[in-house]
Amino acid sequence: MLAGKHILLIVSGGIAAYKAIELIRLIQKAGGTAQAILTESATHFVSPLTVSAISGRPALTALFDLTRETEIGHIELSRSADLIVIAPATANLLAKMAAGQADDLASTCLLATDTDILAAPAMNVRMWQAASTRRNIETLKADGVRFVGPDEGEMACGEYGPGRLAEPATILAAIEDYFANQAAPQPLAGRKIIVTSGPTREPIDPVRYISNASSGKQGTAIAEALAARGAEVIFVTGPAESAAPKGCRIVAVDTALEMQRAVEDSLPADGAVFCAAVGDWRVVEPASDKIKKGEGQSPPELRLEANPDILKSVASLPGGQRPRLVVGFAAETGDLLNRARTKRTAKGCDWLLANDVSPGSGIFGGDDTAILFLSENGEEDWGALSKRAVAARLAEKITIALGD
Ligand code: CTP
Repeated sequence: MLAGKHILLIVSGGIAAYKAIELIRLIQKAGGTAQAILTESATHFVSPLTVSAISGRPALTALFDLTRETEIGHIELSRSADLIVIAPATANLLAKMAAGQADDLASTCLLATDTDILAAPAMNVRMWQAASTRRNIETLKADGVRFVGPDEGEMACGEYGPGRLAEPATILAAIEDYFANQAAPQPLAGRKIIVTSGPTREPIDPVRYISNASSGKQGTAIAEALAARGAEVIFVTGPAESAAPKGCRIVAVDTALEMQRAVEDSLPADGAVFCAAVGDWRVVEPASDKIKKGEGQSPPELRLEANPDILKSVASLPGGQRPRLVVGFAAETGDLLNRARTKRTAKGCDWLLANDVSPGSGIFGGDDTAILFLSENGEEDWGALSKRAVAARLAEKITIALGD
């Protein structure tokens, strides 16, 4: 699986550092090669000599290793790899990466590289859950760093929870997955697909707005899955918290009217997936100055008017202008099947993916969902699954529908 692939393996200091040895063996067994870099603290947990012997290359530790610097240098070292894997990735190393610090060979290579990075975190459960680590992980994800693990379980320190290094076999599977996706066939090449995502914001005045809790995670996952299959994806997004999908053209909007214009400007397209939680109403004439509370005055009354239904308007375009495949979503709180059936007909879309976003479901903003898929051929219950899995499944169906 890894024939001809060269991995730069960065080992940072933690009890789990010894597992890097097994990971190197697995990489080699799969046909790949590994060059190890050990941070100074990693050398207290695993010997550079052992790592060198197993990897068949001198394990590097110091930035100012002059021979090495003159021979290849840290820039080339970090860029010549097909993938950089950090296992284990300590809270400290992740924090340095998030901040862009470069004060040793490992962090310098990570900052200097343009190669993709897969990090396998390992740390005490409290460190993993600490607000600063959470922030760093989000930052790194937004920067495109991939993660595998951590696992949940008993820790060396006796505590229980998430923070254990993923098993070497799992890390190997993530590495293989990475290369498999890289080489993925491009069955949607030449197909243009619009994906709307995230919430919209309808201004009340310059500082206030009406919006909703859509995270944009589902739309992002779908856009990425389509782009990975070679589609030209126009990602029209409201202000969402999730990171921008890779490989897509991003059109950022605020209001429903802006979203509608961006979608119309992106036509013609072969397909359109409407994942955005579009605000149904906007304020008639938002105030141009901040509305003041005023002493003893009653609260302002907001007059609302309906926003255009973007999905419906695109689905009802005449033959030549309508995308061949129009996919909508339905967010319902109860009576899912009946409401979804009615909505598919009312919107005129080909497919509808319905989910129940009742309070307590955790779907709005969460990583998981439950989908009922409706098409002219009937209904499929996809059950509970991750938003990524929904994206993969939908992308597969779209590939069949829009393929040659
Ligand atoms: N949608 C849209 N434009 C709107 C409202 C919704 O394009 N102004 C799309 C959404 O992106 C989604 C589908 O229509 O694909 C259904 O959205 P949903 O919020 O479930 O339904 P609404 O049309 O808003 O109807 P209701 O709130 O009454 O359920």
